[in-house]
Amino acid sequence: MIAGPIFTLRPIMPKRIAMRRSPIHGNGVFALTDIPAGTEIIEYLGRLLTHAQADRLYANTGDTGHTFLFTLNDRYVIDANVDGNIARWINHSCAPNCRASHEENTSGDPRKDRVVIESLRKLREGEELTYDYGIVLAERLTPRLKAIWACRCGKKGCTGTILKPKRKKQGVGKGSRQQRERS
Ligand SMILES: C[S@@+](CC[C@H](N)C(=O)[O-])C[C@H]1O[C@@H](n2cnc3c(N)ncnc32)[C@H](O)[C@@H]1O
Ligand SMILES: [Zn+2]
Repeated sequence: MIAGPIFTLRPIMPKRIAMRRSPIHGNGVFALTDIPAGTEIIEYLGRLLTHAQADRLYANTGDTGHTFLFTLNDRYVIDANVDGNIARWINHSCAPNCRASHEENTSGDPRKDRVVIESLRKLREGEELTYDYGIVLAERLTPRLKAIWACRCGKKGCTGTILKPKRKKQGVGKGSRQQRERS
């Protein structure tokens, strides 16, 4: 008998997306191939923080509007600064071609909820992936805040801001609770 390492064969998936400089902001994520509508492209990964932990850690970073945080649910925030993947580079657009879909864990464990970036329509090779961040701040929108959160998606109908008007109930979305519900 020949003893040796056991190799498992995994199908080789061609890379569908890559990070590149973006005309919207800094780095962005681009399709390397056509991607059909309704494709689950990538999960938004990072370490899990409670809202209180995120608020403590990023208390003094609100001046730039730059965030790698994603509110997962009432308990947790995904912090893509640590253990994040390429999904953290996806920019916001007012006319997005993807959406961030929240998948609730079936056994009810909020730590196991997931956020998956899914195409809203067919993406063409070379197109930048975008989704609507849906960031809602609790505080009044001042000119300073509008400048910090200005949108540069360049789409027809761009609202000029990444922010959304205040709603009664906050949901999942980009940013920490402090950013999303500051008062
Ligand atoms: C998760 S990062 C996205 C990657 C980012 N482009 C970078 O290079 O770090 C989110 C940050 O990118 C910037 N950003 C994303 N979409 C934008 C847009 N449409 N207009 C202006 N800035 C944007 C904001 O500063 C936002 O907080
Ligand atoms: Zn815009």
